Amino acid sequence: MYLTAISAGQEAYDSALLDPALAIASHLQVDDDIIRIVLPEVALDALRVDSVDRMYFQVVGPYGERIAGNARIPLPPSSLAADASSQGYYETVIQGQRVRVAALSVPHRRGRILVQVAETFIKRERLVRELMLSTLLPELTVMLVAIALFWYGIRRSLKPLERLRNEIASRSPADLRPVAEQDKPLEIRPLVSALNELLARLNGAIDSQKRFIANAAHQLRTPLTSLKTHAELARRDPDPVEMRALLDMITSETESTSRLVNQLLTLARAEPGLEPVSGRQPVNLHDAASRAAQSWVPKALAKNIDLGFELEDAWTLGDPLLLRELLANLLDNAIAYTDAGGAVTVRTRVADGEACLEVEDNGIGIPDSERTRVFERFYRVASAGGAGSGLGLAIVSEIAEAHHAKVEILTPPDGRGICVRVAFRPLAQTAATA
Ligand SMILES: Nc1ncnc2c1ncn2[C@@H]1O[C@H](COP(=O)(O)OP(=O)(O)OP(=O)(O)O)[C@@H](O)[C@H]1O
Ligand SMILES: [Mg+2]
Repeated sequence: MYLTAISAGQEAYDSALLDPALAIASHLQVDDDIIRIVLPEVALDALRVDSVDRMYFQVVGPYGERIAGNARIPLPPSSLAADASSQGYYETVIQGQRVRVAALSVPHRRGRILVQVAETFIKRERLVRELMLSTLLPELTVMLVAIALFWYGIRRSLKPLERLRNEIASRSPADLRPVAEQDKPLEIRPLVSALNELLARLNGAIDSQKRFIANAAHQLRTPLTSLKTHAELARRDPDPVEMRALLDMITSETESTSRLVNQLLTLARAEPGLEPVSGRQPVNLHDAASRAAQSWVPKALAKNIDLGFELEDAWTLGDPLLLRELLANLLDNAIAYTDAGGAVTVRTRVADGEACLEVEDNGIGIPDSERTRVFERFYRVASAGGAGSGLGLAIVSEIAEAHHAKVEILTPPDGRGICVRVAFRPLAQTAATA
């Protein structure tokens, strides 16, 4: 705006400067080679009258001779002088003062007559100053005020964020209470509520871990206490038969305690979110099940249970150690909760786009109402009896979850016992063997 206004102002002054040049040109009298100029007093006054600037004029003939003028005005630059009928403006210096010159060429038989009118820059500089004061200054002031306001506004609106940061930074790690949402600005409320959801989940995870540790400690304390009692009894009792019976008890208690410790370790290992220990690899459930047969057939025989296998190839990606653990817990239950003379069947196959592993028995079964709860850690069906710690199915469920597999408890066709089915993501055999 400032620059446009200045150039418009300069143009107006320039064309005003050309007027006296035109007036002088109109008073030229050309008589053959004699060129005269008769300037009426009014015209000379017009040149002198400007109260602000100093004005100069000069008329130069075709041979460069000075015809009239009140100062020596340097000739225009060659670009202006060359064109005989041109008029134009340029800047130069007269008596040490910067001047603006309007030059006008009047054609003449022998060349051209040059009329120059010059004026100092006082008016023009005043115009620049005035424009500066009237446009540039207010704009600058507005800009500075705007910057100050923005700066203040941004600082003010970031304050709550800083307060939130301090609030979170000063918390103790144990303090997982939700962060207050109401006093926060609308913009950061979604962030705070996402943070609170995370805190709630973390709280839940920590709670379940605490419960688990408390339960585990409790579960371990019971067999350790009875171990200690039996060991002390054995020390005091001199009767070798009694002592033998106590030592047998100690052996079986040691076995079940070490099984419990193993179960706890497996649970910690299968914790969802953790990478499996031995890594994912293609596993044929068929092979995993037939390997389990070796260790479980003798146990089934000992209880007079008919352990059968119906195995088809079923490949999946998995952790062989965890899968063995899963199968062991299912077989352990099936044999434990089936009466002598019963039957247990292990099946593997690919069905409905899933790699399935099933362990079916015709034992005491689980009531429908208990079928979800039995997967909780340490949960046991009261009527079932036996001496488990309630971790087997929790282990099964967590290993399945770590493999993105689903576990279901179904009722076998003849209505007796249960069939636990674990459905894994299948792996094409070609991919598996490759
Ligand atoms: N095949 C089954 N038939 C009938 N009931 C079963 C069967 N499998 C599990 N259950 C019931 O589910 C409960 C939980 O089983 P889970 O394997 O988790 O624990 P557990 O067998 O009691 O102890 P452990 O940790 O030693 O395995 C059992 O107490 C039992 O009542
Ligand atoms: Mg069990």
